[in-house]
Amino acid sequence: MAMARSRTVSAPTRVVVLASGRGTNLQAIIDAAREGGLPIELVGVVYNRAGARCATRAARAGIPAHLLISRGLDRESYGQILLEKLLELAPELIVTAGFNRIMGTQVIAAFPNRIINIHPSLLPAFAGGLHAQADALAHGVKISGCTVHFVDNEVDAGPIIGQAAVAVREDDDAGSLSARILEQEHLILVEAIEMYVKGRLRVEGRRVRILDRD
Ligand code: GRF
Repeated sequence: MAMARSRTVSAPTRVVVLASGRGTNLQAIIDAAREGGLPIELVGVVYNRAGARCATRAARAGIPAHLLISRGLDRESYGQILLEKLLELAPELIVTAGFNRIMGTQVIAAFPNRIINIHPSLLPAFAGGLHAQADALAHGVKISGCTVHFVDNEVDAGPIIGQAAVAVREDDDAGSLSARILEQEHLILVEAIEMYVKGRLRVEGRRVRILDRD
């Protein structure tokens, strides 16, 4: 009789996404997990604005969405509320995808190098603020793009995992440039999550080393 061979099947990485609005980056992650073989389990979406479309996207995908209203709360007070929810959800990785709040320092301390953010500019240019694409255009840059990075205590300043460049066209306005950048955001965000879950990211000071595939 043949012996049954035991096989080690590693559990998918638990991921929580934080979002505030439209949620197309969230959708890209959902799609990559569903159809693209991204080995993650989306264990929750936390959002901070009632009625946000990201909550509808989560519901459609069967992911629990938790509304934690941030209005009127400062960084640290909201951070405390957020931290309690995150500890309950117990993610390995947190992704801030269009989340319009600065993360509380207690959350960052609890998840060191385990929070990834997507920003619609080539950092360190046009950090902070909610209109990076319009600011880049107003400044007259010829190349913009997006950056995915680890979150630390400085806003939009943590170690960079990946970037994509997008050329500015003569006839661009903030909407058209944002749309082309957004397409790239979806790609580099999913790619960064994949590299994280495969253990390919090593943070060395400000640099993130991308390790070879095995
Ligand atoms: C994206 O451009 C993201 O980089 C920025 O906010 C936007 C969110 O878009 N932080 P969505 O909600 O993921 O569609």
